[in-house]
Amino acid sequence: MKRYFIAANWKMNKTIGETKEFLDSFLPMVKDVSGTEVVLAPPFTSLDAAFQKVKGTNVQLSAQDLFWEDKGAYTGEISVAMLLDAGCRHVIIGHSERRQHFGDNDDAVNRKIKAAKKAGLGVIFCVGESLEQREAGKTFDVIRSETEKGLEGVTDENLVVAYEPIWAIGTGKTATTEQAQEVHAFIRKILEDSYGNKAGSIRIIYGGSVTPENVDSLMVCRDVDGALVGGASLKPESFSRIVNFKKEM
Ligand code: PGA
Repeated sequence: MKRYFIAANWKMNKTIGETKEFLDSFLPMVKDVSGTEVVLAPPFTSLDAAFQKVKGTNVQLSAQDLFWEDKGAYTGEISVAMLLDAGCRHVIIGHSERRQHFGDNDDAVNRKIKAAKKAGLGVIFCVGESLEQREAGKTFDVIRSETEKGLEGVTDENLVVAYEPIWAIGTGKTATTEQAQEVHAFIRKILEDSYGNKAGSIRIIYGGSVTPENVDSLMVCRDVDGALVGGASLKPESFSRIVNFKKEM
């Protein structure tokens, strides 16, 4: 039986007060969810407040990024130990917005994944092609390159890989179920080449304009094991509907 993984990526949204308000509504809505890991990635400033609410519940916390050094003169950065201390069980690494606006290249992504894995933090590793790359027929090359470079030397297969086509993020354009399934199956193959049978335990989740309206059809795809949700995760009603997706169409 598949164990789904559905995470909310709040990006730069919600104050501490708004985080608490969200959780007061959301937690009762998802308390009976089974067979799906439910994860919330608020901004750093809301982690502690969120942890106070989610501890002892079926909702886990994730950070949106980290820096790979243990400590020191790195103004503005957050270490793995700090994230563990704040109650995080996971961290998103390699999100396209980090790659695009903050210069996170494949090498930085790889260092971040290694630092997280070394400390036992779960990784949600994002890959995805741009519209230009898709239209130029380069989708599979980009996915292979990002996946292989990001995971170079990473021996722990306890990972979640998020396929997030950049053209579908925040645009309202979702990949069709065929497009998602095709890339997910391709990623599965790359992971099998590196991790053999153990690749079966790696969840491959889809991100990019996931909504309550399209989640059911995406989740029935054979190689889609969950979702990474931005915009539609900001309202308790809509994210809880996504988490409570219908398994049978
Ligand atoms: P979106 O964002 O759901 O708003 O498209 C997804 C993401 O960037 O993780």
